[in-house]
Amino acid sequence: MQSHDLIVIGAGPGGYTAAIRGAQLGLDVACIEKERALGGTCLRIGCIPSKALLESSELFAKAKGELGAHGIVAPDVQLDLEKMLQRKQRVVTSLTRGIASLIKKNKITRYTGSASFISPSRLLVQEAKGNRELEGKHILIAAGSQVASLPGVDFDGKRIGTSTEALSYSEVPKRLAVIGAGYIGLELGSVWQRLGAEVKVFEYLDRILPGMDKELADAAHKILAKQGLEFDLGARVTAAKASGEECTVEVEGASPWKCDRVLVSVGRKPNTVGLNLEAGGVELDDRGRIAVDAQFRTSAKGVYAIGDVIRGPMLAHKAEEEGAACVEGIVTGYGHVNYDAIPGVVYTHPEIASVGMTEEQLSESGVPYRKGKFPFAANGRAKAIAETEGFVKVLSHNQTDRVLGVHIIGARAGDLIAEAAVAIEFGASSEDIARSSHAHPTLAEAIKEAALSTDGRALHI
Ligand code: NAI
Repeated sequence: MQSHDLIVIGAGPGGYTAAIRGAQLGLDVACIEKERALGGTCLRIGCIPSKALLESSELFAKAKGELGAHGIVAPDVQLDLEKMLQRKQRVVTSLTRGIASLIKKNKITRYTGSASFISPSRLLVQEAKGNRELEGKHILIAAGSQVASLPGVDFDGKRIGTSTEALSYSEVPKRLAVIGAGYIGLELGSVWQRLGAEVKVFEYLDRILPGMDKELADAAHKILAKQGLEFDLGARVTAAKASGEECTVEVEGASPWKCDRVLVSVGRKPNTVGLNLEAGGVELDDRGRIAVDAQFRTSAKGVYAIGDVIRGPMLAHKAEEEGAACVEGIVTGYGHVNYDAIPGVVYTHPEIASVGMTEEQLSESGVPYRKGKFPFAANGRAKAIAETEGFVKVLSHNQTDRVLGVHIIGARAGDLIAEAAVAIEFGASSEDIARSSHAHPTLAEAIKEAALSTDGRALHI
């Protein structure tokens, strides 16, 4: 039987990062992945293809509408959806191949098949050509998550489906129902709305983007509604059914809505079924996730878990941090993730990005804070590129001035938030941000101004 120092189950961002880090630290590493293409949900059917389509659809919407203001006349803008989808697929293929070459370069043994536990140190791998058993000194579960279903909603994989289907509709839906106003609903709803669909987003709560700073979410709601996304808040979807080409979405206390496609985006659940966790002695927590301690150790000795299968936000970069920290912990005895400095980004237009605590969390926990806010409308670069919607909000401790949270809605907010994450990671004060030189003219100057504004010293407003 083949044995390895570290066997990683899953080659998503968490799993492949852990495998590479293990190899860098001198371990003999193997990685088991059931799909032929590496990179997990994120690369194959998540973050990357959705960002490719978001970019293409944004360019299309701009060409149809806003370019005129720049003096660019494009009277006959056409959509070639097939080509748009092919480009997206090329992006995915090049990146998944890139991961395969990283695995090879780092001399990680790759197994293509499904893994399940035989014992805490033994795995069964079901490969196309038969079964094999592997022994691991350490086994890391990075099996990711899958789409959560909704009672009453019949997935048919065609008319009623998940983000996977919504990344590849062969034609622009006339009417698209999106169930859930979270990350996926807003991103993919935006894609198809820009390409010409009438999109209605049904959300159970009375707000969009639960968990994000409320002021940010409210601003996003207004901006996205102005772009043409229709929102039905406080709407509990009880059923969705397809009959031929038509779908019906039923909402508690309201009349049914007819459409030709339904995207269900009500969250994801950890991939714990099929791993035979009982045989591995791996226990779940009260919410069905693999229970781990601060070092990502499960209830079974030598077995670890990271990413979407454990607690915390289901984000690729959170899984990456955990993957590296877990393996560093195994080899060096120390590995740490600062969960206060993990950003969240929704790649709509404008982008919505957050790191640290929201205003609601600060109020609820009784932490005294100061708030600085700066609108992009007062930023020179934003004006020059005609991206004046949105603002930056900096929240710092009232006494120590330590930055506790930064929330941005605006163009390239997903890139801008990196500065704020570094500030939080380094325990910076808003004064530290305010005194750092920010190149002019850049969108990042809005962060400096918002930091100044916590002390009533913003210069350009
Ligand atoms: P989500 O958790 O972000 O949002 C789900 C929404 O559905 C919530 O607002 C919830 O209140 C609503 N909902 C639940 N039941 C409902 C019902 N019966 N009727 C109407 N609304 C209902 O989940 P989503 O968008 O599916 O994304 C899944 C995961 O994928 C998220 O945890 C996110 O972290 C990750 N993701 C991250 C992205 C990014 O980083 N940009 C992009 C896409 C996904």
